Amino acid sequence: MTGLFITLEGIDGAGKSSHLDWLAQWFRARGRAVTLTREPGGTPVGERLRELVLHEAMHVETEALIMFAARREHVERVIRPALDAGGVVISDRFTDASFAYQCGGRGLAEERLEVLERWVHGDLQPDLTLLFDLSTQAATARRAGVRVADRFEQEPDDFQARVRAAYLRRAARYPQRIRVVDGAPALREVRAQIERLLAELV
Ligand code: TMP
Repeated sequence: MTGLFITLEGIDGAGKSSHLDWLAQWFRARGRAVTLTREPGGTPVGERLRELVLHEAMHVETEALIMFAARREHVERVIRPALDAGGVVISDRFTDASFAYQCGGRGLAEERLEVLERWVHGDLQPDLTLLFDLSTQAATARRAGVRVADRFEQEPDDFQARVRAAYLRRAARYPQRIRVVDGAPALREVRAQIERLLAELV
């Protein structure tokens, strides 16, 4: 079996994390070995970098470099071995998040990240990216009171709006890979959308 690399993206509160376990079950029920992982994080080094980058104020380029440092470790130790073994890797965020947050949200030039992307995973892209799309108002309302806000979640609505716009631009640029899921309806309806996309893939 060939490996399958699936990533979930969206602004904070768009609802992607509610579908991770269900998605893993969907593939396991079809006899596939699943690795469920996340970024930043997914490895011991990556999880320590996650703590740092989510809670410590820093320059935007430092932030981008840390995201890609964590990603280097993640690709090498988790993603590639699992794909080579024929497994399904489902990652809560990957490089699209860097383009959306560091470029779209914080204004870093995309050329900077293109260099890092080539360096860190030049020959690897997700087979499918589910982009959960939701208005910033609805996402903010969903997040309220659910957890302690990290540095990105503390950003004002217009930051999240720029992140959302950057994600949608990427979806328009890579329409085969990045599929937009409407995050607004009830959970069951969102799942039905995802199942239709998975049926196209497998
Ligand atoms: P999470 O809340 O979905 O776990 O993601 C952690 C935060 O990290 C989220 O607000 C988005 C941000 N992030 C970036 O800014 N750049 C990246 O490359 C990644 C992977 C996440």
